[in-house]
Amino acid sequence: MAVDSFTGKIAVVTGGGSGMGRELVRQLAVQGCSVAVCDLNADAVAGTAVMARAAAVPEVRVTSHACDVADEGQVLRFRDEVLEEHDTDHVDLVFSNAGIGGGSSFVSGDREEWERTFAIDWWGVYYCARAFLPLLTASADGVLVNTSSVNGLWASLGPGVPQSAYSTAKFAVRGFSEALIEDLRTHAPHVHVAVVMPGHVGTDIVANSFRARGLPDPEHMSDAQLEQLIPRDARAGLVGAGLLAEDASADDLRQMLVRANADFRDKAPVTAAEAATIILDGVRSGAWRILIGEDAAMIDAAVRAKPEAAYDYAELFKGMAAGPAAGNPER
Ligand SMILES: NC(=O)c1ccc[n+]([C@@H]2O[C@H](COP(=O)([O-])OP(=O)(O)OC[C@H]3O[C@@H](n4cnc5c(N)ncnc54)[C@H](O)[C@@H]3O)[C@@H](O)[C@H]2O)c1
Repeated sequence: MAVDSFTGKIAVVTGGGSGMGRELVRQLAVQGCSVAVCDLNADAVAGTAVMARAAAVPEVRVTSHACDVADEGQVLRFRDEVLEEHDTDHVDLVFSNAGIGGGSSFVSGDREEWERTFAIDWWGVYYCARAFLPLLTASADGVLVNTSSVNGLWASLGPGVPQSAYSTAKFAVRGFSEALIEDLRTHAPHVHVAVVMPGHVGTDIVANSFRARGLPDPEHMSDAQLEQLIPRDARAGLVGAGLLAEDASADDLRQMLVRANADFRDKAPVTAAEAATIILDGVRSGAWRILIGEDAAMIDAAVRAKPEAAYDYAELFKGMAAGPAAGNPER
């Protein structure tokens, strides 16, 4: 079902301190929609609210909230703050956008990192749906918008780049969202769900993911933190790929991480602002499946056309212009 306009509505956005979430907040506010935005990073989300208020008409209310979406108690507190500060008994739109990269290898990686990534990317979406679905049901026409990824279609980033925690969570987000289609149709037909599958979008997700896992910015990581983040065998892979010199020092590694974040943000085919516009256009049109970028469209088509070849990369992308997508922070 299409949404005529966002004007006069109330939206919730998680992970709005940066990237696509921040742009969603700004664009919704410009279009006359009040927004309650949360993030793990309280300063960043307060900055988003200031920016959005400056761009919005006076009737629009933008409130910012500190919340770790992987903690159900904090999500429930966020919901209560939304009800009070927006003086409402319902919300019209929920963008479950917060997410991080990490947990690349189940086989050799750090268990804590795997579980933190999964907790934010899956349980964060689940807790927000639990907390906010009753408020969407109380709206005349609610929309729940869950952000998955191309890694909800394809559980790899190509040769030598496993993507296990992130893909497991993003497949779950996609499966949950698709399952809700019939569930809502049956039990709350005025509420709709959409799932967003971005390819590579230029954001600071690499650095933000370190922060969400309790690490400092790369410039300030200790040698021990670097060792845990990029163990010896992973370094060998980076040397083999020509990304790191054989005799690289700890400072070289720090610089490589700073560059990786900047390159991921600055060399992307789609900006965060463009991605937010695609998401809002998709919601407005009533789409339940919102792909962002040509890389996402290419992976979607390839995996559906040749499912058995999904992890035989040469075969999967044979005859296609480009290789595997970026589409993910840990690339
Ligand atoms: N950028 C990409 O290429 C890309 C591709 C596919 C999917 N995605 C997904 O899009 C969503 C937005 O990513 P982005 O690229 O805009 O990243 P981003 O890092 O710019 O923004 C994500 C925000 O979420 C916040 N966050 C992280 N953990 C949180 C938590 N536990 N509770 C609350 N907030 C938390 C971060 O602080 C950050 O402000 C994520 O779900 C991501 O997995 C991104």
